[in-house]
Amino acid sequence: MSANATPNNQPPQWVHLNGKLTPKQDASISIYDHGFLYGDGAFEGIRVYNGNIFRLDGHLARLYRSVQAMGIALNVTQEALKERVLETVRANQHRQGYIRLSVSRGVGLGLDPKHLRSESTVVISTEQLSLYSQEMYEKGLITITASTRVPPSCCIDPQVKSLGRYINNINAKMEANRVGAGEALMLNMEGYVAEATGDNIFLVRNGVLSTPSSHQGALPGITRAVVIELAKELGIPFHEDVFTLYDVYNADEAFLTGTAAEVIAMVQCDGRDIGNGKPGKTTNCLIKGFRERTGTDGTKI
Ligand SMILES: Cc1ncc(COP(=O)(O)O)c(C=O)c1O
Repeated sequence: MSANATPNNQPPQWVHLNGKLTPKQDASISIYDHGFLYGDGAFEGIRVYNGNIFRLDGHLARLYRSVQAMGIALNVTQEALKERVLETVRANQHRQGYIRLSVSRGVGLGLDPKHLRSESTVVISTEQLSLYSQEMYEKGLITITASTRVPPSCCIDPQVKSLGRYINNINAKMEANRVGAGEALMLNMEGYVAEATGDNIFLVRNGVLSTPSSHQGALPGITRAVVIELAKELGIPFHEDVFTLYDVYNADEAFLTGTAAEVIAMVQCDGRDIGNGKPGKTTNCLIKGFRERTGTDGTKI
């Protein structure tokens, strides 16, 4: 087997590491990378559907907003980074898949960025990813509310998709795992619902669709934005709202959106059925719209 060959006749896999396509098995970063030492970096997860990279420009724009907020000097322009993503997906011959684009501040021991010995680290890899089973998409998710809160914007702003913020989300996800739930909702410090560990939340009440704003602690999700666009097209009334768990428990329908999770109904929370405990009509309509949209709308690889 050659250095970059893979078993089962899969094409060789490549990682774009600091500007160079590198065989996956040779792609490594320093033990003193600030992303590894301190969670000092940002990332994006991006989907490839039918040979189209879904909302690539939106993901890149969010990444550049994250690094700008963190004061990280990314050593590559947005256009050049886009080209690197395209090169990686083409090299790995993925027509369906999940792209992980991670950046860190650079390499250097000690938290002071003055000690950095390198420019920002930039890594692009691709994988296959399916978060939930077909059955879960059909029947909907059972969820809980985590005791772990979303940090307030005076700490790590939840709009920043930073590596470090995810220690909270991982903690909350472990709370869900402990009780066999598919996801955990996270509240902000005021007790209002912010989002789930890796997804945004939407409610349908009396025919009106709503979701928390970024000011409530929600990441400005790319999938969230697509669902809002779809709602407009389908004539479903929508507004951003502030809601409590009372509103979740009493909603007619609820669903979650995220690049990894896509759009999935949420049929139970903290032991209460939501609506009739089945994916609702509006949810199913938006899931259908999302699936149609992901077939066509993207950057061709
Ligand atoms: C905390 C959190 N909220 C929401 C989302 C959904 O965002 P997107 O639709 O851009 O994937 C994600 C996933 O990226 C996330 O990690």
